[in-house]
Amino acid sequence: EKIYVGVDVGGTAIKVGICNQEGELLQTYEGPTETAKGTDVILQNIAQYAKNIVEESSYNWGQVEGVGVGIAGFLDIPRGYVKFAPNLKIRDVNLKDYLEDTLQVKVLVNNDANVAALGEAWAGAGKGVDNCVCYTLGTGVGGGIIIGGKIVEGFAGMAGELGHIAIVPDLEAIQCGCGKMGCLETVSSATGIIRMAKDAVERGDRTTLSLVENIMAKDVIDAAKAGDEVAARIVNRAAYYLGRSMAVLAVVLNPESFIIGGGVSKAGDFLFDQIREVFEKYTQNEAKDGVKIVAATLGNNAGVVGAAGLILRA
Ligand code: BGC
Ligand code: NA
Ligand code: ZN
Repeated sequence: EKIYVGVDVGGTAIKVGICNQEGELLQTYEGPTETAKGTDVILQNIAQYAKNIVEESSYNWGQVEGVGVGIAGFLDIPRGYVKFAPNLKIRDVNLKDYLEDTLQVKVLVNNDANVAALGEAWAGAGKGVDNCVCYTLGTGVGGGIIIGGKIVEGFAGMAGELGHIAIVPDLEAIQCGCGKMGCLETVSSATGIIRMAKDAVERGDRTTLSLVENIMAKDVIDAAKAGDEVAARIVNRAAYYLGRSMAVLAVVLNPESFIIGGGVSKAGDFLFDQIREVFEKYTQNEAKDGVKIVAATLGNNAGVVGAAGLILRA
């Protein structure tokens, strides 16, 4: 039996999975990325976790058709080259070459959100849908565009970097990890929500939120759900810019659905209804006809399944 290994490299954790030919996830493994330890350690961890999952399974390397990797960063996709991964603080490394040398197997590298989108399109919320746009709301805002069942990579591999759509007006914009001002990610990621909450507390706004050391986006969302107006405004701002970005993409690509995943999406309809309202208001009528905004369904596994799918579908 042939198997396909998928690796999902995020800011906090590296998830690894083994899929069969049908794209079924047979086994998973997870370890820390150890971002603070720098590039070499991150690369070693990726290789080590991939080795671990195969060696601890009932399969052997002879059965591995290849290793697909999704990584949170700007890539030269055909070369498997990481130009810059702002949230991992990696610059200028050829991940594909490193892993092929270390693991002695075929490796394909793509953006983390692109592979999550592929996973969802293949086996999740986008199953049976040919054209969809996926957002992952986590440390950053990831994006993946699937047209005709395939990832849109663009001229240099930068297509689908939806988190870096410059959308917040100058007067309210802050600098993004990418260096530019007003990116969607600065307001609609978990990091952005936390930052807005900290700002509000520091300004002395009347809120139940407090400056606890590790305030999470979930705390802000829960406070908003419980009626805290300051928290509600923060969540609404995150939703507003997501909705506005979708209104743009609707007339550019006319996807059948927008699929939203990542930790922040667990806010559920509380968040989605606000996004839908903005999308309704700003999207040209014929471009939003029949278009759905839905939650991702593969949860944490979208990345590994999609990464294995890179090999399976190659
Ligand atoms: C990165 C993307 C990534 C996203 C989600 C962004 O900051 O630029 O490449 O897909 O975070 O991890
Ligand atoms: Na992407
Ligand atoms: Zn940016």
